Amino acid sequence: ESTLGAAAAQSGRYFGTAISASRMSDSTYINIANREFNMITAENEMKMDATEPSQGQFNFTNGDRILNWALQNGKQVRGHALAWHSQQPGWMQNMSGSTLRQAMINHINGVAGHYKGKIHSWDVVNEAYADSGGGRRDSNLQRTGNDWIEVAFRTARAADPGAKLCYNDYNTDNWTWAKTQGVYNMVKDFKARGVPIDCVGFQSHFNSGSPYPSNYRTTLQNFADLGVDVQITELDIEGSGTTQAETYRKVVQDCLAVTRCNGITVWGVRDTDSWRASGTPLLFDGNGNKKAAYTATLEAL
Ligand code: XIL
Repeated sequence: ESTLGAAAAQSGRYFGTAISASRMSDSTYINIANREFNMITAENEMKMDATEPSQGQFNFTNGDRILNWALQNGKQVRGHALAWHSQQPGWMQNMSGSTLRQAMINHINGVAGHYKGKIHSWDVVNEAYADSGGGRRDSNLQRTGNDWIEVAFRTARAADPGAKLCYNDYNTDNWTWAKTQGVYNMVKDFKARGVPIDCVGFQSHFNSGSPYPSNYRTTLQNFADLGVDVQITELDIEGSGTTQAETYRKVVQDCLAVTRCNGITVWGVRDTDSWRASGTPLLFDGNGNKKAAYTATLEAL
């Protein structure tokens, strides 16, 4: 196959990218996105601050722009993200208690309801675990009560019964890390108690502080064995040249080795589109040329 999406489809998987509405008029960018990828995530446009800038007043302009472009071009869409401690609208940031809990529920109903029937998978809750210790991250949402995550999932299920519902986080790739174990235990508990969770997203932003771990495949398989799909949701890998390319190859090989790893998304198109202030973590260079990392990825699919 000659594109990432078509190559991934050979094994029933998808290959996606994050898209920014502000770059859609860049023809090099949008042409690569259209040619190579068959799953699209809005990089910022479906987040809480973007979709509910004033309480109870939803704005789907940019989210819809990305979603409609994707659907019109035969792609599927990952929704990102319904509940998160970051990129909350100003009105929500200092809320607490039952007021915030209800605002979260209203937000999920508003956004998941708007996109009902159009989303492949939703990141229902993003980054709820602390970086060390294996427990929950402190946040205004966490302080509303430990059950906020399951409430978010139950609300999302009712709002869009057709979407797969994912928990998404970073630094959950290394099986030996406490954060990984914390999320694993939550998912295990949710499955045991019938909380509606269908998938776990591994952001997989790999860099010197959190490098690709040799036990990545083990992590993906162990989560899959809980009865959820696993998805690589925001892949980028610090570095360049052959070293970077071989790490991309390993990530793809690990996903393909796990039956329930059903898709990979890279977090941007060209290196110059990356959220990383510096570095070259993606598959295309700033001119839109395929990098060694692209070739290794395509070969591995
Ligand atoms: C990032 C975007 O790429 C940036 O444009 C924005 O300024 C900040 O957020 N984890 C996530 C993503 O789940 O939503 C983040 O995206 C990157 C880290």
